[in-house]
Amino acid sequence: MANSSTPAVQIEGLTKVFRLPFKQEKVVAVDGLSLQVDAGEVYGLIGPNGSGKSTTMKVLLGLISPSAGKASIFGLDSGDTASRGSVGFLPENPYFYKYLTGSETLAFYGKLCGLSRKQIRERSDELLEMVDLTGARDRRLGGYSKGMLQRIGLAQALVGDPRLVVLDEPTAGVDPAGSRKIRDLVLELKRRGITVILSSHLLEQVQEVCDEVGIIFNGRLVREGKLNDLIAIEDQSEIVLQNATPQLLERIAEMVEGEEGAQLLRCGNPRTTLERLFLQEIKEGSKQGGEDA
Ligand SMILES: Nc1ncnc2c1ncn2[C@@H]1O[C@H](COP(=O)(O)OP(=O)(O)OP(=O)(O)O)[C@@H](O)[C@H]1O
Ligand SMILES: [Mg+2]
Repeated sequence: MANSSTPAVQIEGLTKVFRLPFKQEKVVAVDGLSLQVDAGEVYGLIGPNGSGKSTTMKVLLGLISPSAGKASIFGLDSGDTASRGSVGFLPENPYFYKYLTGSETLAFYGKLCGLSRKQIRERSDELLEMVDLTGARDRRLGGYSKGMLQRIGLAQALVGDPRLVVLDEPTAGVDPAGSRKIRDLVLELKRRGITVILSSHLLEQVQEVCDEVGIIFNGRLVREGKLNDLIAIEDQSEIVLQNATPQLLERIAEMVEGEEGAQLLRCGNPRTTLERLFLQEIKEGSKQGGEDA
């Protein structure tokens, strides 16, 4: 039975081998992978194309069966349909009925989750608001932009009020402003205590939202840990000064020079990121009358 210390996700020695039809060949998509996600954490799975991220997620969700090893959600084996009761999933290429409107789509998934009409109405209103699609609720998905589709996909994943949300590349094909919205939504889920496991190629975004990161390569987990531990450069220190005069900088440099073993590696203005610059420009542009798609 699950209790508060039961991990949200536990994957042990997972291997998935695909046999190609009419051929002798096999593809080892996941190779002895183990990982654990604690309840309330945001876990980022990163790795190149074809490294096994989606396959791992599909096994976790019980959509495909493992060749060896096992996966469980809040202590229930992924093969057990009960394990899916508390999970929301955004697949990497979500397929939606393009003739349904945004709110009809959520009603459809709400019905699948067994919600009552009243619950569906309340939940849809809340989720549409949360993903910023209230204004587009009566438009058909056929006319939604890629970013809007990803957001309705995210709302769909949340309809059943899940404790775990699995997002396979939630920001694929979405522009930086849209990805930022999705990033904020992930942070909102975390704030609500929902566990999130996501895969992404946008490393900067993973860095911004994830507590723990796993790097997967050729189906194996090659590195895993708390994000802050993984990316800290332990033998370097950083000082950021505001309004320092050239004289002060010179004095600091001289002090460092006089210190045995210490070395000043860099001194200059920190750079903003291209993403921040882009978003700033877009904001300026939209003040002058842009459209939020
Ligand atoms: N149904 C399948 N049949 C055969 N091979 C498959 C199947 N699904 C995945 N594979 C293979 O398994 C490997 C891992 O694929 P997977 O989709 O898990 O990678 P991924 O890390 O999600 O990649 P991407 O970043 O491109 O989404 C790939 O070599 C892929 O071709
Ligand atoms: Mg994938």
